[in-house]
Amino acid sequence: MKKIGFVFLTLAFMMVLAACGSQTGGSSGESGTVGISMPTQSSERWIADGNNMVEQFEELGYDTNLQYAEDIIENQIDQIENMITRGVDALVIASIDGDSLTEVLELAASMDIPVISYDRLIRNSEHVSYYATFDNFQVGVLKGEYIEQYLGLAENNGPFNIELFAGSPDDNNAYFFFDGAMSVLQPYIDNGQLIVQSGQTDFQQVATLRWDGSAAQERMDNLLSGFYTDKTLDAVLSPYDGISIGVISSLKGVGYGSAELPMPVVTGQDAERPSIASIIAGEQTQTIFKDTRELAGKAVEMVDAVLKGEEAEVNDTETYDNGVKIVPSYLLKPTTVDINNYKEVLINSGYYDEDEFDDK
Ligand code: GAL
Repeated sequence: MKKIGFVFLTLAFMMVLAACGSQTGGSSGESGTVGISMPTQSSERWIADGNNMVEQFEELGYDTNLQYAEDIIENQIDQIENMITRGVDALVIASIDGDSLTEVLELAASMDIPVISYDRLIRNSEHVSYYATFDNFQVGVLKGEYIEQYLGLAENNGPFNIELFAGSPDDNNAYFFFDGAMSVLQPYIDNGQLIVQSGQTDFQQVATLRWDGSAAQERMDNLLSGFYTDKTLDAVLSPYDGISIGVISSLKGVGYGSAELPMPVVTGQDAERPSIASIIAGEQTQTIFKDTRELAGKAVEMVDAVLKGEEAEVNDTETYDNGVKIVPSYLLKPTTVDINNYKEVLINSGYYDEDEFDDK
C-alpha cells in the first residue's frame, strides 16, 4: 500500500509539474529552459515581446516558461520565484517596478541563474548580467523633435499651448523618455514659444503610474476643464500609445478632432495597432516604433552567450547605472512613425499586415 501510495504521489507530482510547465514550450529544451517574466498582457507590445522570445529561444533549442504578471508586483515576484524553484537556467525579466526585484534576484544568484533585464532596467541589484533595450533617451528626443518640427518651433512660430505626460515613476525608462523630450522642448518653454497652461512641468507632476491610459484620460479631462475652457491645446507630449489613446478620448470628449477644433499634435510610443489605426484616422499624430523582434533577438543572444560562458555583444557600458552597478547594455534604434511612413516602416517590414488596418 505504502509503495502504491508513493508511486501515486510521485505520478501526481509529475503531472502537476507538467501542468505548470512551459505555457508555450514545444521544443525539447535540449539547450535549457529560460524563464521569461513579462509585466502585462494589457498592452499588445508585451504579448509580441513574449511570443517573439519564445519563438527565437525555441529555434536555438531552448524551452521557455513565459509568464505575465498583469502589472501586479507581487505576482511578478511569485512567478519569478516559481521559475527559480522549477530550475530554469536563465531569466529574462521586464519588470513592473524596477526597484522591487532585489530579493528575488538574490535567490536567482544563489542558484547561479543569470538574469537579463529586458527593455526596462532592473535597479538595485548586482545580479543583472545584461540589459537589452532601445536608446531610451533618443526615444524622447524623437518625440520632442517631432513636436518641434510639427509646430515649426525652430522657425520661431508660436506661442503654442502644450501639456506634458510622462510614464510610470517606477519604470526607469520613463525618466529617460521625459528627459530626452525635454532636452528639445525645454528651451521653447523657457523662451515662451511653448506654454504649459497648467504649469505642470515636473516629472512627478506629469507621471502616469503603471502607464495607465484611463488615469491619463482623467488627468487630461482635468487639464481641459481647468485650463482650456477658453484656450486651445496645440500639443500633447505622450510617452506611450496607451496614454495617447486615453488623452485622445478626453480631447474628443470636448470636441477636438473637428474642422473648427483640430486635434493637437499627440505623440506616442510602441506603434501598437490601436494607435496606428488612430494615426490613419487622423487622431494620434506620431508614435515610436521599437521592433520587438529585434529586442527579443538581443535578449536571446545575451542568454545564449551567458549560458555558454561567453560575453554578449553590447554597445553601451556607461548609461545604465542601476544604483549598484552599470549594467552592460545593447541599445537598439527607435524609429519615429507617422502617417507618412507607417506603411514603409510597419507594413513593408512585415511587422503588421496592411489588411489589419483596412476597416479602421
Ligand atoms: C516602457 C517601454 C515602453 C512602453 C511602456 C509601457 O518600459 O519602454 O515602450 O511599452 O513601458 O508599456
